[in-house]
Amino acid sequence: MSQKIAKPFLKWAGGKTQLLHDIENKFPYQKDDTLTYIEPFVGAGSVLFWVLNHFPNIKTVVINDINEDLIQTYQIIKNNVQALIPLLKEWENEYHQLVQKKEYYYAKRTLFNTRHSDAVTQTALFIFLNKTCFNGLYRVNKKNHYNVPIGSYKTPLICDEENLYAVNQALKKVEILNGDFEHTIDFITKNTVFYLDPPYKPLSQSSSFKAYSQYDFNDQAQIRLKEFCDTLDAKNCKWILSNSDVKSVNPNNHFFDDLYEKYHINRVSAKRNINANPTKRVKLTESLIAN
Ligand SMILES: C[S@@+](CC[C@H](N)C(=O)[O-])C[C@H]1O[C@@H](n2cnc3c(N)ncnc32)[C@H](O)[C@@H]1O
Repeated sequence: MSQKIAKPFLKWAGGKTQLLHDIENKFPYQKDDTLTYIEPFVGAGSVLFWVLNHFPNIKTVVINDINEDLIQTYQIIKNNVQALIPLLKEWENEYHQLVQKKEYYYAKRTLFNTRHSDAVTQTALFIFLNKTCFNGLYRVNKKNHYNVPIGSYKTPLICDEENLYAVNQALKKVEILNGDFEHTIDFITKNTVFYLDPPYKPLSQSSSFKAYSQYDFNDQAQIRLKEFCDTLDAKNCKWILSNSDVKSVNPNNHFFDDLYEKYHINRVSAKRNINANPTKRVKLTESLIAN
């Protein structure tokens, strides 16, 4: 199969495709540099795939996320994509043929939530739900049960075979970790850059979107992350961090300005689209902070 450029294989709230251009401009290394890239909150990995495609001499790449199901999916695509593809194809065929899709979707969701299947099946379920659910959301409750309803797609692309093979190849040089972001510190070498994309601080109580995993990311965690950035800075690592711009909705909210006063804070515009109502998808500014 001809080698295609690998791109994100999931829809993920907070996907960085919109901000990619600003992140590229801030990126502290050039195309031919040798570097180590670490992404402790990888999600769907839009910046990861840009890095993998853009830096042919990259030495070490490390990704991490606290979400076990997500990380298992990366590991299976890296190590066993051959087993994954036939299963996804079979389910795609079955799904496209159904007029009434509800029963099929909810049966897959229930099976996913038992978490008793083998790793390949569990990964196929994860991808299937991501491609067929409402808005490509990943949201779990406190029991880690995925609870997103069915989406209205008639013939969604569930098995993007070409891209899955490209991702399989691209991940060959990637170390894949599952845990808290702080553990990634062990992988620092010379010329290391971190891109940090934590769950955003909510702009208001009602906009709070705690969907990625059963673990909360509260203000205490935001402060712990800033201390982590201080440690990286002391170790001469470069880092770029994105977050919400709380000041844009409340001019008196100096949370990030105070926390990151030692560093460079840029406000960049980005269209957020995790809102269920398309008319409410507004242009907002976000913070892009770097050392
Ligand atoms: C904003 S998303 C990342 C979006 C991603 N960069 C993209 O382009 O799609 C934040 C990620 O952080 C993960 N996360 C939450 N708490 C974490 C923690 N303490 N350590 C590591 N990852 C965490 C979530 O599971 C989620 O995937």
